[in-house]
Amino acid sequence: MEILVIGVGYVGLVTAACFAEMGHHVTCLDIDKGKIDRLNKGEVPFYEPGLKEVVLRNQKGKRLLLTTNYGAVKKADIIFIAVGTPSNKDGSADLSQIEAAAKSIAGEMTGYTVIVNKSTVPVGTVRNLKSIIRDVLTKSKKEIFFDVISCPEFLKEGSAIDDCMKPDRIIIGSDSEKATRILKRLYSSFTFNHDRILIMDIESAELTKYASNAMLATRISFMNEISGICEKVGANINQVRLGMSADHRIGYHFLYAGVGYGGSCFPKDLRALQAMAGNLKCETPLLEAVDTINERQKKRITKRISSYFSKKGGVRGKTVAIWGLSFKPNTDDIREAPALTLIHSLLRKGANLRLYDPVAMGNAKKELKGKGNIRFCLNEYQAAQNADAIVLMTEWKQFRFVNLKTILSKMRGNAFFDGRNQYHPKEMAIKGFRYMGVGIPQSPIDLLRELRSIGNKKALRYGATLRDIDSALID
Ligand SMILES: NC(=O)c1ccc[n+]([C@@H]2O[C@H](COP(=O)([O-])OP(=O)(O)OC[C@H]3O[C@@H](n4cnc5c(N)ncnc54)[C@H](O)[C@@H]3O)[C@@H](O)[C@H]2O)c1
Repeated sequence: MEILVIGVGYVGLVTAACFAEMGHHVTCLDIDKGKIDRLNKGEVPFYEPGLKEVVLRNQKGKRLLLTTNYGAVKKADIIFIAVGTPSNKDGSADLSQIEAAAKSIAGEMTGYTVIVNKSTVPVGTVRNLKSIIRDVLTKSKKEIFFDVISCPEFLKEGSAIDDCMKPDRIIIGSDSEKATRILKRLYSSFTFNHDRILIMDIESAELTKYASNAMLATRISFMNEISGICEKVGANINQVRLGMSADHRIGYHFLYAGVGYGGSCFPKDLRALQAMAGNLKCETPLLEAVDTINERQKKRITKRISSYFSKKGGVRGKTVAIWGLSFKPNTDDIREAPALTLIHSLLRKGANLRLYDPVAMGNAKKELKGKGNIRFCLNEYQAAQNADAIVLMTEWKQFRFVNLKTILSKMRGNAFFDGRNQYHPKEMAIKGFRYMGVGIPQSPIDLLRELRSIGNKKALRYGATLRDIDSALID
């Protein structure tokens, strides 16, 4: 079977590489000549663990070809569409890339073809693509049979190869038995262990993708809201999470408080789902709240930093190190990354920034070119140099076991804002940091230090005398 994949982004290139790895002959097409040229030189245009090896192996084995030429449609039996569906200004999905791809496909079709949409799209898009293709064929007086079906993509950046090779589920939304049969056969090698193919109508398949992302975003916003309550009542979100997760109806996954979600999917998909529902006069107060909480959470870390520095002359002129710029670990994707929100607001407040990310530096440099007082650093240690505060924004594994003593010795101040709750508060306080996590009460040592610094009179209001505090600090 000849497979053509349109779009060599995170989804398209991974999909193409995985089909080639399964022994299929795959062509991957993109209108971005720069990307195709780089791939043909053996470079992968973005970071995804394990992808480069699979791409190179299959290019070498002549199972994976890369092109900008839509003429490749002529020999394709199955065409996957994996182009971008970014947000319009009003939050709805911008379908111009996918509609352009459908027209280009139609212009080159010569025989029966199954067109499979992998891009995340509002309900009705696949049926609309069918009419776009039919119109082009009618105008050019071609009588060709074809099917357009939906197969939404669920891979996660950072583990995309694994997700693609061992998917939790493959959803086929189809109104054609023939197309379903062909796609089931194609995916059979990915579901050897047990059948994970779910067949449904096109509309349900399209909506399943949005509903899944909305559910995941809801879990994050829920935990972020609870983390705000934790901070007020002196509870610890990590303990609360474990207590909640032990209930198997809730489970342990995807329940972390932090600095809010970002990336190329959750924010835009949530907005697109709301826009689609809004057009149908369907109210979505829960989705609105999820989005509002997330926007608030992305700004909370700046507020906490400002409040910390308010007693120290303000943020202006302070040096802040930011560890992690991508929206999550194991990717160089910085689209809608919470780190960008923080960077822009700290720059507006006049801070000097020292930035480091293990793989997203290239994208960050492009995005932040010419903006304010920024120094891009070679590693987390260099970023800590003369910093008044460190903010951990992305939980890259390499940050977990840094030498904290060395880090502190390089800093001018000792504030550590842990946006992902990666460190132990008490240990950080003992090491000498002024540690602030998300939804985590101050450690007893931090609290005592603070009481010590505000003096006897105020400390007495908390029921402590300076002597109590000093002896507790010595303990
Ligand atoms: N990135 C993810 O983790 C992920 C996961 C699941 C689903 N999705 C969805 O998959 C789709 C693609 O996402 P992505 O992150 O891979 O996008 P991307 O922006 O990384 O890549 C899209 C590619 O499509 C190309 N393109 C645009 N118009 C084209 C055309 N007319 N013909 C050929 N190529 C064209 C672009 O040049 C680009 O290389 C989106 O709808 C997204 O929501 C993404």
